[in-house]
Amino acid sequence: MAVAVGIHDIALATGHYAMDLAELAVRHGVAADKYYIGLGQHRQTVPAADEDIVTMAAAAAQQIVAEHGANDIRTVLLATETGVDQSKAAAVYVQELLGLPSCTRAVELKQACYGGTSALQLAAGLVHRDPGHRVLVLASDIAKYDVDSAGEATQGAAAVAMLVSADPAVAVLEPGSGLYTADVQDFWRPNYRTTPVVDGKLSVSVYLEAVEQAWKDYEAHGGRSLGEFAAFCYHQPFTKMAYKAHSRLLEINGVAPDRLRLDADLAHFTVYNRMIGNSYTASLFVGLLSLLDHAEDLSGRSVALLSYGSGCVAEFFGMSVVPGYRERLRTAANQAAIARREPVGYERYRQLREAELPEDGSSFTLESRGAGPFRLHAVREHSRIYQARRLIRV
Ligand code: CAA
Repeated sequence: MAVAVGIHDIALATGHYAMDLAELAVRHGVAADKYYIGLGQHRQTVPAADEDIVTMAAAAAQQIVAEHGANDIRTVLLATETGVDQSKAAAVYVQELLGLPSCTRAVELKQACYGGTSALQLAAGLVHRDPGHRVLVLASDIAKYDVDSAGEATQGAAAVAMLVSADPAVAVLEPGSGLYTADVQDFWRPNYRTTPVVDGKLSVSVYLEAVEQAWKDYEAHGGRSLGEFAAFCYHQPFTKMAYKAHSRLLEINGVAPDRLRLDADLAHFTVYNRMIGNSYTASLFVGLLSLLDHAEDLSGRSVALLSYGSGCVAEFFGMSVVPGYRERLRTAANQAAIARREPVGYERYRQLREAELPEDGSSFTLESRGAGPFRLHAVREHSRIYQARRLIRV
């Protein structure tokens, strides 16, 4: 009999500060509603100088390890497009910070915002091969665009950790996927840049084309019909993009994308992203968490997920929500991680983003700024040194 494999536990972390987009609207000389309504974004997470993708991923993962222990976790897959090293996997730092056994496989994966889904699918394959094996899937990113660019309003930062196992308690990955890959220059970040090169309008149209093509491939491979899904999750660079994507999916299925239908399908899953901003690889799963935390009971229902990564790769797949999943959720902790961020105005945001780490190889020590359980303490002889600030008790 086929083993059911999927998400056994899922946890969120984000950064220390948050900026209201009204602050950015003043600077950009536009109405705040352009961002609040036009993009569907209210705030964006701004990380502290001693926070990065490693500290956020470890903060999310620690909640899972504290509950389930580390012994069965034999693989850590960390997806990111804002990695801290060209060679060493950020997953190795996380393995050490969490005190995972040394008999662990730790790897970093990349394909823009699609990377988190690739990690989830590869994890499922490993668990199918050995159902006693548990995989820690981490998606962690800091979305940062050029100052005064159109993309600046969509910035954000977050990490999601997922424990992938046999007989999961939250959601079973359904068989079959719709896939789409096309070589497009809509958004990319050459090695010599700290911010991406973006053709924003092209990226929106390529994303929508990817939704259509991934859905067609899903249908061609015997996927569910649209009406069988109780809810929908999309990669969310900004929440309005999910509305555009869902409109396209409804239209190609002959359903009118009226406002009532769109809100009914999407309102629950956009709550967290609206407050966090884009978190690239983590964004789809931040949306999934938001859905699970806010929707009425989805036990036994199927949820559709559309993952998009610029460049581009997309995947459409389904998950079946496991009865009793609500007892496993960390709704209060997730809401607290978003609510406790320290508000910053525009000037402070600029100071924070300009406090970039030296790139000339010099050593430095960082003051403790964030409040998360882990921090980047120093760089010495080109090596990043992380520290546990405190342990989260869950
Ligand atoms: N009140 C209400 N709405 C308003 C408004 C106001 N006062 N002023 C403008 N708007 C609306 C506009 O009508 C528009 O709505 P529609 O999209 O429904 O037409 C919306 O606000 C945005 O306005 P513009 O199109 O003028 O916005 P822009 O050109 O300044 O920037 C963007 C939009 C191109 C998406 C830009 O934010 C960007 O480049 N973002 C980064 C790239 C991105 O996120 N791409 C998404 C697909 S790629 C992907 O998903 C991967 C990834 O993570 C990056």
